[in-house]
Amino acid sequence: MQRLLRKRPALGMALLSSAATVIGIAIALAIDWFPTEASTASKDIDTLWDVLLIASVPVFVLVMSVALYSVFAFRVKPGDMHDGEPIHGNTKLEVVWVTIPFLMVTALALYGWVVLDDIEAKEKNPLIVNVTAQQFAWSFDYPGLGKLKSNQLVLPKDRRVEFRVKTKDVIHAFWVPEFRLKTDTVPGITTKTRVTPNRLGGYDVVCTELCGIGHSTMRQAVRVVPPTEFESWVAKKRKSSGDGGVAAAGGDMAAAGKTLFNDTGCKACHKLADAGSKTADIGPPLDDLAKEAAKFGKKEGQSAEEYVRTSIEKPGAFVVPGFPKGTMPASYKDQLSSKEIDTLVKYLLGVSEGKKGK
Ligand code: CUA
Repeated sequence: MQRLLRKRPALGMALLSSAATVIGIAIALAIDWFPTEASTASKDIDTLWDVLLIASVPVFVLVMSVALYSVFAFRVKPGDMHDGEPIHGNTKLEVVWVTIPFLMVTALALYGWVVLDDIEAKEKNPLIVNVTAQQFAWSFDYPGLGKLKSNQLVLPKDRRVEFRVKTKDVIHAFWVPEFRLKTDTVPGITTKTRVTPNRLGGYDVVCTELCGIGHSTMRQAVRVVPPTEFESWVAKKRKSSGDGGVAAAGGDMAAAGKTLFNDTGCKACHKLADAGSKTADIGPPLDDLAKEAAKFGKKEGQSAEEYVRTSIEKPGAFVVPGFPKGTMPASYKDQLSSKEIDTLVKYLLGVSEGKKGK
């Protein structure tokens, strides 16, 4: 090989580069880049990615081979103090290195545009879901289903969904990796994205734009269920917002409270062992809430229940020393029904009381 490189450098380089290209493409395609495919867009996007890799490896190899060869072959010999030869352009070479990348990039851009147009196509009768982002939680409502509100995203399998995404504060990004969809949430405008989930299961909505101290905790559950189960979820959800979610939890107040705590995004900021939230420290920990609420409530002339309720509805009313004011969103009062807030208050006081007794 060394002798070949010295005698016929172009041929030797071509052989070496081809081998490197084949190995590079094999490695790139062998890597499992993506999570489960759970929407009709997944396959097209994954194929697009593979095509981009296949197109990129030869370019990378070509550039690196020429660079490495030049460093090696044209390095200065010991004692050589001459200037380099003056070179004034090479029209043929320049035409080639402009035309080929232009054609490649244009072809890939067209292909990408066709795929995007295809996966975002409008279809008849989509399920509209409004998505609202705020530091640091997502909430969802279904305007076509009597403005049903939910903190968990539930979707029927095989139905086109149109997400209309808004934010109450800063820029976030709405992303479900398994669906391959993603869109930024931009203050003042509504962004849209469409997808058809085609695989039953539980996934996560993830925020992928650094949006503040609780960014990494800004994730919530997505469930893709059979259409019939979706119908019954809607019916149950409508009934249960009137009773604070207790019916949905089989009449168990504590279970309903824990579900609210987890689904509303409280766990992103508050530590509460009972709900499995062990590291969140953006807001005050709630494991000793019963004791604290009794103590601080007394100061404010409120019962422990009133104190906790006010803290949820008007987060700025009392701020625990050591925690920044204005971090907790003031929107839970609108987002939750009065009964749901009741359930949450009872749950929080109940679990922290239980802990005190131990
Ligand atoms: Cu919201 Cu990051």
